[in-house]
Amino acid sequence: MTELDNLIASINKDTRITVLTGAGISAESGIPTFREAQTGLWENYSPEELASLSAFQRDPKLLWEWYNGRREMVKQALPNAGHDALVRLQQWSNHFCLITQNVDQLHQRAGSYDVIELHGNLNTARRFDEDEVLPLDDTLESLPPYCQVTGKLLRPNIVWFGENLPSAAVNAAEKGSIEAEVFLSIGTSGLVYPAAGLPVMARENGATVVEVNLDDTTITDMVSLKLSGCASEILPDLVDRLIYA
Ligand code: OAD
Repeated sequence: MTELDNLIASINKDTRITVLTGAGISAESGIPTFREAQTGLWENYSPEELASLSAFQRDPKLLWEWYNGRREMVKQALPNAGHDALVRLQQWSNHFCLITQNVDQLHQRAGSYDVIELHGNLNTARRFDEDEVLPLDDTLESLPPYCQVTGKLLRPNIVWFGENLPSAAVNAAEKGSIEAEVFLSIGTSGLVYPAAGLPVMARENGATVVEVNLDDTTITDMVSLKLSGCASEILPDLVDRLIYA
């Protein structure tokens, strides 16, 4: 029996499964990951320079152009077989928790629900100095957008570098990590906290941690099992073996 065989044999419908995804699961939907070189118009900018409150205050129009470009790209993208496999896993399992760092909402478009979004999403906004989350129109007529009720400048409902994450999402993600019996870390470099601490939290509470990634990452040395390759190829096979075992 291989380590993967043993993992499959150890999991049933009542096993508490928690999944953390990063940009790598959306890569095969055509959405660039964060730490690949920026392509096209933004190759002279790094996400860190743009995804910050100071960048927004300096030039809200430029920042909204960057985010709106990502929104339009995501609109054209489709969930891939990796997203679809996690939908099937959630339907099969009685204890499933999906945490994502991604802001593209491809998990929800694939059919996942109760998705814990640690970093917000591209389809909502907030009045600049308020916490209330507002839906964004499908197509923004002018940039930067303003609240039609209060006239206040809107900001993307995305966590910027140096900002706190939404506390409800962090609490739910930590609960899901502490309670996990199996923790899947999929398509993340494990470089950004607090998300990067979740697999460690799971392991410290007795979970079997499995990493699905093209490359080695900061957590590779501590995981129980490393599945190297594309998430859209590995996940469908893994979920099929679990469901039809
Ligand atoms: P990264 O770009 O840092 O890492 C993407 C990971 O996915 C890398 O480890 C790749 O090897 C892996 N990968 C790429 N293609 C893959 C594939 N087809 N199958 C499996 N793995 C693949 O993206 P994240 O780890 O998600 O935060 O970055 C975390 C956060 O950093 C982002 O949410 C963002 C960024 O700053 C905020 O915006 C707040």
